[in-house]
Order: sequence, then structure tokens, then C-alpha cells
Amino acid sequence: MQRVQLTEDLSFSRIVHGLWRLSDWQYSKEQTLDLIEHCLDQGITTFDHADIYGSYTCEALFGEALALKPELREKMEIVTKTGIKLKSKNRPAHTIKQYDTSKEHIVSSVNQSLKNLQTDYIDVLLIHRPDPFMNPAETAEAFLELKQSGKVRHFGVSNFKQSQFAMLQSYLDFPLVTNQIELSAYQLENVEDGTLDLCQEKRIAPMAWSPLAGGKIFSADDEKAVRLREKLVEIQKDTGANGIDQVLYAWLLAHPASIIPIVGSGKKERIDHAVQALDVHLNREQWFDILQTSMGHEVP
Ligand SMILES: NC(=O)c1ccc[n+]([C@@H]2O[C@H](COP(=O)([O-])OP(=O)(O)OC[C@H]3O[C@@H](n4cnc5c(N)ncnc54)[C@H](OP(=O)(O)O)[C@@H]3O)[C@@H](O)[C@H]2O)c1
Repeated sequence: MQRVQLTEDLSFSRIVHGLWRLSDWQYSKEQTLDLIEHCLDQGITTFDHADIYGSYTCEALFGEALALKPELREKMEIVTKTGIKLKSKNRPAHTIKQYDTSKEHIVSSVNQSLKNLQTDYIDVLLIHRPDPFMNPAETAEAFLELKQSGKVRHFGVSNFKQSQFAMLQSYLDFPLVTNQIELSAYQLENVEDGTLDLCQEKRIAPMAWSPLAGGKIFSADDEKAVRLREKLVEIQKDTGANGIDQVLYAWLLAHPASIIPIVGSGKKERIDHAVQALDVHLNREQWFDILQTSMGHEVP
């Protein structure tokens, strides 16, 4: 498995596994452990979490599985996120949904994530979404405290646009290591609005969430999904890929920005498909053909 070097002392597997949907899969601890080991066997060593996934339950489900084989911890990188407060039966004190990037919230959320994940460090902590009420000096103070205590090794952001990234970065003495953004051939917003350019400018590899458009690409009947699906089938045949999912992954992997797709499936064969997509190579013409089909028109 290829790896992407984020800093001198941190690399991610080129394909990451995402645990957003873990609680939906209804796996036992043993089944979750089996899935984790399967990922590791395929070379997927980086796992993406958030405090809020599964209404605050997914980190703990992963942690319980990891506790069955704690020696696996050092073979993986754990990414988790903070900064969103959900209304949830698991957080009765939250009366409305809101963002919170205060020092108090970040530190307490990381302490809870460490407990849930049954680990004593997080490899990368991301601010989940830009917070319009952010005090960047305070957020930076939280980061520094977490770094100095060894609880978090590195920091990044998610869903940040250029100005939000620059603002937070200007308060930090160390570089943000990634921006996790929605990115797929179906969802081009971050390609079109300069967010992907920002990652290339800063030499940071973006993590791509919902690389298969959250599964919509397989069944949605809106015009864009239908025409894109037809094009993906055509290119699947031309490249010998094993499914349109592989073409979608290959479209991200072909881009010079070292995009890191986050696989959202809990099914081993679909995870394997993502890994095998590393062997599917799109040329420039195929890449543009998919882009233009998604846009619905030729480039100007
Ligand atoms: N930072 C953020 O704001 C943010 C937001 C959303 C997600 N994320 C991260 O990104 C990860 C991936 O996102 P995602 O789950 O939306 O990714 P995705 O891969 O675009 O979508 C996964 C969905 O597609 C379905 N699927 C996969 N292959 C399929 C196939 N061949 N046929 C039919 N359905 C198929 C999966 O169902 P099965 O499970 O049944 O295979 C699952 O429901 C998440 O786990 C999370 O870690 C981050």
C-alpha cells in the first residue's frame, strides 16, 4: 500500500477507513476487530473518526474492539474530530446543535475521545467544521496544551475554506497537516472553489470524504447521477476496472494533490475494491471526461 507523508514523523495509508457508519453495521466487538484487522492486512492503517459519529457512540465501539488486541494500536494512525455539539440523547445538556471550538470544549472532547478509543494518544485531531464563532487564539491554546501533554500528535481541519484555514494557521506555530473535505466526481464544490488549490499551495494532502458520494452514485436518479453513472460504466470497461466504485476512487487517486480517499463501507469486499483501485490508472482524457460529465458541460 502506498503511503502519504504528512509530516516528517507521520504518514497515512493512501486509502483510509472511515467509521462514521460503524454503529449502523451492528457489529459485535469481535466483528469490528475482524474488520480492523482486515484493513490492516490490506495496508489500510489510518482510521477516521469523530467524537459525534453514531451520536457519540462509534469511537467507543472501535475502542472496545481495539481493547481485545491493544497491540494493534501502534500499527495504526487514529484521526478524530471535535468542534460540533449535537443534540443527542447521549448529551442531554446540549439543547441546540452548535459548533464549539473553545479551549474547554476541545480539551474535554479529546479526553473523552481518548477514553472511548481506549488509547492514550490521537495521531491527528481535526476541527470538524469551520466555526463562525471561533476564537482562534483560544483554539490554538487548546492545540498547544494537547500537543505538549502528548495527547495529540498533530492537528488539521475539515471542511475549511481558504480564509478559515489561513486564519487558524496564523495562530499556530506548527502546520495544520490536512484538510478533510467532501470530494468526489459527483461533488465538485471543493475542486471549483479553490479549496483543492489551497491544499496544493500548502503542500498538504487532502482527505476526501464521501468519495462515492455517500453511496448516492449507485442509485440516485437525478440527472447528474444518471449521466455520471453511465460515463463511469464506460470508463470502467475501458480501464478494466472492477466496478464504478473503483473508477471513482481512481479519479481521486489520479489527481496530483495526493488526495486520500476515506472508504465508508463496513463490507470487506468493498474495502478491498478501494485498495485494488490503486492499480486502476486514468489518463488525462478519461479524468476530464468524468469531470465534464459531472459538470454537465465542456470546460470553457
Ligand atoms: N469530515 C466530514 O465532515 C465528514 C463527513 C462525512 C464523512 N466523513 C468521513 O468519510 C468517511 C466516508 O464517507 P461515506 O461513508 O459517505 O463514504 P462513501 O464511500 O461515499 O459512501 C459510503 C456508502 O456507500 C455505500 N456503498 C459503498 N459501495 C457501494 C456499492 N458498491 N454499492 C452500493 N452502495 C455502496 C456504503 O454502503 P455499505 O456500508 O453497505 O457498503 C455506504 O452506505 C466516513 O466514514 C467518515 O469517516 C467525514
